Amino acid sequence: MSNAAAKLIAAQLRRKPDSVLGLATGSTPLGIYRELARMHREEGLDFGGVRTFNLDEYYGLAPEHPQSYRYFMDENLLRHVNIDPKNVHIPGGLVKDIEASCSEYEASIGQAGGIDIQLLGIGRDGHIAFNEPGSSLGSRTRLKTLAQETISDNARFFRSLDEVPRFAITMGVGTILESRHIVLLASGVEKSDAVRQALEGPVTSEITASALQLHSTVTAFLDDAAAEKLKRRDYYKYVESMRQVVGQEDL
Ligand code: F6R
Repeated sequence: MSNAAAKLIAAQLRRKPDSVLGLATGSTPLGIYRELARMHREEGLDFGGVRTFNLDEYYGLAPEHPQSYRYFMDENLLRHVNIDPKNVHIPGGLVKDIEASCSEYEASIGQAGGIDIQLLGIGRDGHIAFNEPGSSLGSRTRLKTLAQETISDNARFFRSLDEVPRFAITMGVGTILESRHIVLLASGVEKSDAVRQALEGPVTSEITASALQLHSTVTAFLDDAAAEKLKRRDYYKYVESMRQVVGQEDL
């Protein structure tokens, strides 16, 4: 799963060296970042012109906090590739004027020409970025109060539940939907309900990932466990095998 997604990103960077990538944190994209770092090291994959925008950041955590998403990105991708630090954008976890800083974040995505590929994981409650159930499907970058389920899911990274931040700054669903190509990743049976509802359920703010059904170009990379509850799983596999027939095997 990770290698296939990394290959897609590498193809994008070769096609357009100054691509704008939307990046996610969490456990899911770790394998992709490892593979991209390897491609840089061993195959010279060039990040020199790449611009990045992360989906979200915990509010209240300093960049050097080991659980901040800034720290995560530095450790897992950025310091392993030749990206220019001035091209890296991650919402600030300590900003004072939250509204102004969220508007600036949106504006800088626009100034970069929009996001070419947006990577997404999915929460067990169907969230994308930190757009918890009930988030407006037109939402923009803003401060979001985290749901209890997300707080307890993320507690594994902190010493105690009390240390998990209660807020995050996150791109909105509307922001994400403006990306040109969205790549959704999910692995493990614990994501299978969210995946089914996102891809085959009704479009609803209760499962913010279901908004992806409104986008023209979404690629989902799922392992078998995450895909096991999909009703049309056999059809998707068939479609995948038919790509070769129409010469789209690299999509
Ligand atoms: C992370 C993010 C979240 C995660 C989701 C899944 O930047 O925006 O939406 O993608 O919570 O997390 P993992 O991958 O840890 O299961």
